[in-house]
Amino acid sequence: MIAPTRLLRLRALAKTNVSRSRHIVTTHAALNVATDGSTSSVPPLTPGGTASGAGAKKTTHFGFKEVPEEEKETLVGGVFSSVASSYDLMNDSMSLGIHRLWKDSFVSTMVPRLPPSLHQNPSALTDPTASSTSSTFKCLDVAGGTGDIALRILDRAREKFACRDIEVEIVDLNQGMLNEGRKRVAKTLYYNTPQITFTHGNAQSLPTHIQDNSIDLYTIAFGIRNCTSLPAVLSEAYRVLKPGGKIGVLEFGKVSNPLFREVYRQYSFSFIPIMGKILAGDADSYQYLVESIERFPSQPEFAKLVQEAGFQTGQMKEGKGGAWTDFTGGIATMWTGVKA
Ligand SMILES: C[S@@+](CC[C@H](N)C(=O)[O-])C[C@H]1O[C@@H](n2cnc3c(N)ncnc32)[C@H](O)[C@@H]1O
Repeated sequence: MIAPTRLLRLRALAKTNVSRSRHIVTTHAALNVATDGSTSSVPPLTPGGTASGAGAKKTTHFGFKEVPEEEKETLVGGVFSSVASSYDLMNDSMSLGIHRLWKDSFVSTMVPRLPPSLHQNPSALTDPTASSTSSTFKCLDVAGGTGDIALRILDRAREKFACRDIEVEIVDLNQGMLNEGRKRVAKTLYYNTPQITFTHGNAQSLPTHIQDNSIDLYTIAFGIRNCTSLPAVLSEAYRVLKPGGKIGVLEFGKVSNPLFREVYRQYSFSFIPIMGKILAGDADSYQYLVESIERFPSQPEFAKLVQEAGFQTGQMKEGKGGAWTDFTGGIATMWTGVKA
C-alpha cells in the first residue's frame, strides 16, 4: 500500500508536470482523447519552458492530467489503496446498484453454459490408470479487485450448471483490493478451495506462471481504463488464452443520446466526487475515476483495439452480432472477442 505522504507528493508532482508540459486539459471540449490508449512521447521542457528534444520523457494520462508514463501505476495504485475498503459501498451508491445488473449480464454472456460436474469415485481419483473424466475450465479475472466478477462466475457455474470443475484466478495490481476480495471470499463456500485464487500482478505483463494458451475465459471489468497501455493488456490476454478462448471487457462506454449524455456528465462530475468525500473521505480519487471514464476510447475505437490484438469480434456495431453491447444507454459497455 502506498503511504499517504508519498501519494500526496506524487499528486503534487503530477500537477507540476501538468503545468510544465502545458498539457492541462480543463474542459471536456478541450480534451484530446487518446483513442488507442497508447502513451504519447513529448519532449521535456527546460526550466524556462522550452521543449528540448534530447531525453524525451514518455507521458500518459492520469484522469485529465498528463504524467510521466512510469508514474501512472503508482498513482493508480494510490487511488485504489485509498478506495479499497469502501469500494463495494461506493459502487452501489454511485450506480444506484445498477452495476450489479451490468455484471450479471456480462457474466451470463461470457459463461453461456458449462458441462455439469459428476461426482467421482474417490478410488478412481487415486488410480493412475483411470482416465480423467473432467477438465477444469480456467478463468482469469484481471483487475479483479474485490472479486465481484469471479464470484459471479463461480456462482453461475454452480447454481445454473451444477459445475464445480471451474477455477478463477484473480489478478490485480493492488494489494488493498486483493485483501478486500480475500475477506469477501472467506465468507463463501469457495474459501480455501482451488476454485478461487488471488495473485498480485499487472494486466500488462501477467505473472509468468500464467502460461501461453492456458486460459479458457479472460475477463476484465472496470479495470482496463486504469492501465497505461490498452494494447499491451489486450496482447497479454491474447497470449494466455487458448485458441477458441474468449475475452470479455466490461467498462464505462460513451452515452449515445446527447441529452442523456449531458445529464450523466453533470451527475458524474458534480455528484460522484461529493459522494466519494462523504462515504470514503476521498473526493480526489473519485474525481480521478470520473476523469478516467471520460478519457476512455469510444465503443468502436475500443472494438478496433480488440481486433488489432488479434481477436475475432462481431461486426463494428452495437448489439446482436456486433462487437459490443451497451448497457443503460452506453454508460457501461461489454466488448467480446474470441482467439482464433
Ligand atoms: C474499478 S476496480 C474494478 C474491480 C472489479 N473488477 C469490479 O468490477 O468491481 C479497478 C481495479 O483495477 C486494478 N488495476 C488497475 N491497474 C491495473 C493493472 N495494470 N493491472 C492489474 N490490475 C489493475 C485496480 O487495482 C482495481 O482493483
